[in-house]
Amino acid sequence: MKIEMSACFWVAVVIPLAALLWWWNDCWYALPFRRPHLPPGYMGIPLLGEMLPFLYYFKILRRPDDFINAKRTKFGDGVGMYRTHLFGSPMIIACTPSSNKFVLQSESSFAVKWTNKELVGPTSLVAVEGDSHTRVRGIVVRAINQPNALRKITLMVQPRITASLKSWSQRGRITAYKEAKKIVFANTAKYFASFETDHVLDTLDDLFMGLLGGLRAYPLNFPGTAFHHALKCRRKAEVIFRQELETRKKSEGSVPKNDLMESLMHMKVEDKQLSDTEVIDNIVSLVVGGYVSTSLAVMWAIYYLAKYPQVLQKLREEHVPISKKLKGDFITYEEIASCKYTAKVVEEVIRMANIAAFIFRTAKKDVDYRGYRIPKGWTVEAPKTGSYLVFGGGTRICAGNMFARLQLTIIIHHLAVGYRWKLVNPNAGMSYLPHPKLEDEVEINISQI
Ligand code: HEM
Repeated sequence: MKIEMSACFWVAVVIPLAALLWWWNDCWYALPFRRPHLPPGYMGIPLLGEMLPFLYYFKILRRPDDFINAKRTKFGDGVGMYRTHLFGSPMIIACTPSSNKFVLQSESSFAVKWTNKELVGPTSLVAVEGDSHTRVRGIVVRAINQPNALRKITLMVQPRITASLKSWSQRGRITAYKEAKKIVFANTAKYFASFETDHVLDTLDDLFMGLLGGLRAYPLNFPGTAFHHALKCRRKAEVIFRQELETRKKSEGSVPKNDLMESLMHMKVEDKQLSDTEVIDNIVSLVVGGYVSTSLAVMWAIYYLAKYPQVLQKLREEHVPISKKLKGDFITYEEIASCKYTAKVVEEVIRMANIAAFIFRTAKKDVDYRGYRIPKGWTVEAPKTGSYLVFGGGTRICAGNMFARLQLTIIIHHLAVGYRWKLVNPNAGMSYLPHPKLEDEVEINISQI
């Protein structure tokens, strides 16, 4: 009698309840009569959606590709889009080169998605759309990513790089990611706003790390949350940049500083200059875009060159003759541009590092793609597998891509001609969130040649 009761309880209550929970999101978001033609997929349980399997593949199994592969196996290859529910939103994952390109190149259909534009700066090029984006992007790219700016940056960043590498070899053992961050941040602060004193650099570094910590956090704004802390850091960083900007405006006419803030304050597109807020928002958003990404690229270069000594040898063959010709001077932008093999190594490092593994968009309207529909307001995630989209694509392609390549090339030049190094943990494991990174952050023993 007891057994019958408990069997009835399972059949009548537990199984239907479990099934309801299991299919809840699909019933809520994806019933064909409510939203026809959605891409295939599974949207998970209430509130969490598919976050648990996502974290299982990324954090526990450490095989992130299998999160998508499992979908391919279950739902077929189709058009390379699957519906799911992640980070609190219904979502379409676009995971083939063609579906990625479709999303990235349809600016009229998809907007960039940020948890909160206040963090990156509402008037910065990463946040604005349409004509404003074209205008601001034109100015920023000129100030940071084109030959005249790059020529200046090449010479400006090298004193810090050479001094840091020397200090690494004096210490003998260093953690590449931690040290790369110090170089990249110091050079960024110097080129962006001529900030050089240790005190200002340390304060800004703390503030930017706090800001970055909130970028993909749930937007819960109360004390104790990563998002609240990030907003506070953003405001404090803004105060430092605004004070600098005001000081410059008061001393207009004195010797101009040869940096990004100066360029942004004076550059014009169609006779229009950036406002003070636009200058500051853009500087902050460029630090956000370039700081961790470039530091990770440097870490990966150091890792791969230790793993592939034959590649390092070929780099030496390209750089040692240049270095002999320079007789102690710094390498120039033109010499860098002539290093064809190095350019290929840099591309390959950035490709393999897969630094920006996801790009997020929001559908501005219902969008149809090869017989399937992406509903208005849903998030679209492009995990960029199987194609060279490391810097994104379309009008939003990375505004600092040449700047990043340049910094990486200069560090490789100085490492290749002057140093040898070995990995302390050649079999170190990987972590994948928020970016793919070696768990030991690439510890190396390094010495001068
Ligand atoms: C290896 C290093 C880097 C990688 C892998 C990288 C990757 C990317 C990707 C994938 C995007 C597109 C994001 C999207 O479409 O939503 C992007 C955009 C952007 N990146 Fe980078 N980036 C790197 C370095 C930099 C640097 C050094 C800067 C500037 C200092 C920078 C500034 C930006 C900006 C401003 C955008 C937004 C462009 C726009 O919306 O028009 N990035 N980056």
